[in-house]
This record gives sequence, structure tokens and C-alpha cells, in this order.
Amino acid sequence: MKIAVLAGDGIGPEIVAEALKVLSVFQREGVDMELESALVGGAAVDAVGDPLPATTLHQCEVADAVLFGAIGGPQYDTLPRHQRPERGLLRLRKALDLFANLRPAQVFPELAAASTLRPEVVSGLDILIIRELTGDIYFGEPRGIRTNAAGEREGFNTMVYAESEIRRVAHWGFQAAQRRQKRLCSVDKMNVLESTQLWRDVVTEVAVEYPDVVLSHMLVDNAAMQLVRNPRQFDVIVTGNIFGDILSDEASMLTGSIGMLPSASLNARGQGLYEPIHGSAPDIAGQGKANPLAQILSVAMMFRYSLERPDLADRIEAAVRQVLAQGLRTADIAQAGEAVVSTSVMGDAVVAVLQRG
Ligand code: IPM
Ligand code: MG
Repeated sequence: MKIAVLAGDGIGPEIVAEALKVLSVFQREGVDMELESALVGGAAVDAVGDPLPATTLHQCEVADAVLFGAIGGPQYDTLPRHQRPERGLLRLRKALDLFANLRPAQVFPELAAASTLRPEVVSGLDILIIRELTGDIYFGEPRGIRTNAAGEREGFNTMVYAESEIRRVAHWGFQAAQRRQKRLCSVDKMNVLESTQLWRDVVTEVAVEYPDVVLSHMLVDNAAMQLVRNPRQFDVIVTGNIFGDILSDEASMLTGSIGMLPSASLNARGQGLYEPIHGSAPDIAGQGKANPLAQILSVAMMFRYSLERPDLADRIEAAVRQVLAQGLRTADIAQAGEAVVSTSVMGDAVVAVLQRG
């Protein structure tokens, strides 16, 4: 198993270090893994002037999986767009054709009280958001900032989806629903946007192949509202790139903290990139305050989806539940009055549980 490790910027290196501790537990048990680190994001811009150097892209292409930390920081926000850290991540997603982005939002019972919503609204919550990741307004052309006929600057982007792009991620949605509660909600804005009218039409066509799954459709504004009104109505949500970006951040807060949410981004070959859904959090970088659990849970997803070791995925997830049950809390998931542990203490606690069995 070949794993490319891209720590990136901000809290990325700190939380990836904890994930690597978890991997070394398995290496000591004899699991054969070849880890290779590479530069990405602002760190790569600083070193070689490119957020996705060719060597990094190559290492990812030949790997079975990419373990990714986080990228970005205020010092890069004024660089030309092609040099911004975010471009590195977007180019990597596109180059590896990682179109299916799985973002599970689960409420661990121990953290039900950490959500900003009432525990009775969120407890037992288990949603899987499947976000299309290589199309939509993120990649549509033309795009840019130009001067219009009136001599005024105007910014423009193109929201576009090809039928095949919708179809392949829709299949992912239905198949994931088949393995769960068999309910799929497709989110669009068909009342206003043609590209999402096509989205709804194609998802409806694909549904014919999955008679055991109950398909519903929801407009994105309503979905944003329903997620905080009654989130447990959802099982699997499938949606486009930009709606998925926004709804998954919203869903993360149902679980108590964005610091808890892992993700998997997969292509048709089963290759995947595994990253927490949160960003580089430059405000707390280097202080040992970051929650490493989203990164560690991303390792679990990596074993499940790319490395064919669901047994190791189960062990990691059980270990995370156990450290939460033991009462360990980083600042983002601590309630008033609860003791707070550092990034590395949290990581070490997960490792200790794994080593016990
Ligand atoms: C995410 C992030 C990225 C995105 C940024 C960092 C480009 O917000 O993975 O959700 O918008 O996709
Ligand atoms: Mg996002």
C-alpha cells in the first residue's frame, strides 16, 4: 500500500503528525505501508512557487491513497490565483478525477451536547453527504474578472454540468443509500438554474436502476433550512460541488465541531484522497490546539475505501469513540468547565487505545 502524505499548511502538519502515529501502530503490527511525504499548498508555494509541484502530483498519481492535511493561509490570499494554495488542491482533485466526495456527519453520543443545536435534535444523527467534486462552478469556463461595455469591472463564473458527470456521482449516491437506510435526497436549485434542472432530470433517470432506494429532491435553500430544523430526516444527500461545499460545513456543526469530520474523495479506480473537511485554521496553527480526530477518522476512511482494510477502519473509529468516552476533549469540542487536551495528547490517547487491542 503506497500512501502519499501531503500535510500542507496551518494546522495541517500538526494533525497529520497524529494520523501518522496511528499508521505507525499498524506498521508495527506488520501492515505493509509505504509512506512518502510531498509538498502542497502554501508550503509548496514557499518552497518552489507552485501549490501543486509536478513531483507531488506524480507521487499522488502512483499512490493508492493520498492523506491530505489542510492548505491555505492569509499570507497567500493576495498571490495570483494560480499560485494560491486552494488551486493546488483543486488541481489535484481534477487531475486524479476524484469526483465522488463522501462527507459523513455523525453525532458521537458523547458529543451530542457539544452541538449548537439541542441534543434531542441531533442525537443519533448519521448523514452521508456525497458532493460532486470535479465539476460545477468550481471548474466551469469561462471565468474571470473583465471590464464590461460600461467600463465597469465584472466577475463571472460558469455553472455547468455534463450529463455523464451527474450520472456517475448519482450512482454513488444510490449505491451508498443501498448500504444504509435506502433513502437518497438529491439537492439542486432547479427552480432557477438550468444546470441543476439537468441534475434533477439525470438523477431521476438513474433512479430507475435502484427501485429499492427512495429518492427525494430538495431545493438547496430548503435543504439548508431542513438540516438545522430536522437533520435526522436525511440518510444520504447527493449534490453538486458548490452546494455540497456549503451544506457539508453546515452539517458539521450538527456533530459538535467541524474538527470531527473526515472525508474521502474517490475516483472510478478506487484511488482516494482523504482529508478533514475543515481548513488550515491559521489562527490556531502551531499551538497544539487543533483537534486531530477529523484527520484520524480520514485515515479510517482511507483503510475502508482505498486500502481494503475495513477491519483497521473499524478499529480506528472504535478507538476515537473510546477516547471521547474517556472524556478527552480538544478546545473545539469541550463544554464550559471541561478540561482541554492538546492535539498530541488526543492523538496519543487514540494510539494508546489501538495498542491495547
Ligand atoms: C473544502 C474546502 C475547499 C473547497 C477549498 C479549500 C478550496 O472548502 O474542501 O470543502 O471549497 O472545496
Ligand atoms: Mg468547504
